[in-house]
Amino acid sequence: MSNTTQKDWTADSLAEAATTLAGTDGAQIVAWSLERFGPRTALACSFSLEDVALVHLASQSGLPFRVIALDTGRLHEETLQVAQRLQERYAITVEWYVPQQDELEALVREAGPFSFRSSLEARKQCCEVRKIRPLRRALAETPAWLTGLRRDQGQTRTKLPIIQRDESFGGIVKLNPLADWTDEHLAAFAEEHKLPRNSLYEDGFTSIGCAPCTRPTRPGEHPRAGRWWWEDPSHSECGLHQGRHHR
Ligand code: ADX
Ligand code: SF4
Repeated sequence: MSNTTQKDWTADSLAEAATTLAGTDGAQIVAWSLERFGPRTALACSFSLEDVALVHLASQSGLPFRVIALDTGRLHEETLQVAQRLQERYAITVEWYVPQQDELEALVREAGPFSFRSSLEARKQCCEVRKIRPLRRALAETPAWLTGLRRDQGQTRTKLPIIQRDESFGGIVKLNPLADWTDEHLAAFAEEHKLPRNSLYEDGFTSIGCAPCTRPTRPGEHPRAGRWWWEDPSHSECGLHQGRHHR
């Protein structure tokens, strides 16, 4: 199978790929992606259990791949510990991206270290500087990226496709190999393969992002209810994932 660039991806070829991938499992989707898009293909890793599963599947494929991670400057220590364990277990080098120094200094000088609490606009500005712009740099010269997004992660993700064009990042291809995985499927997979697991899950966290914007959830609450909990849930995205599935 030959590698392709984003220009080759018309609506028809995407629809064809979606048909090919429908009914296949996460391992097949990851292997198909790495074969089709080649070694610049990037797995976006927040060190969630989903993303650790993706790294495991990619390693199992035997094909080369990149692991990109956004160090926002506000991640939990526990998350960084998973990164360390992942590097050791899979002998990978995590390609970290950090915010641009001048932009970050301007942000914290002008608005303070908790700017994101003051308004939705201020929160989006912080995510823009700490996550989105670094991701834009990470995805330059990248034909396709893979995420650990799942459909049952909340009202903004219910229509998530397995494959899509990502207009927010230059029209490259975005793949969500675990789109139809349930909590039970993920937990069983993690147990079977003894995946490194963020210890915060043991403390009641069900979705983990930046420390000041994430809190544990209570039984019965939605898994993403602890992310930006002070906002309306329809806003609970940071801008990394603004594709068609949000409409
Ligand atoms: S977020 O948009 O609300 O922050 P979430 O935490 O659910 O996203 O993660 C969804 C997917 O986005 C992850 O599976 C991963 O692919 C990517 N992602 C999120 N945060 C990061 C990060 N810090 N570094 C790299 N990828 C990330
Ligand atoms: Fe800033 Fe919070 Fe967004 Fe992290 S999640 S980039 S701290 S607003």
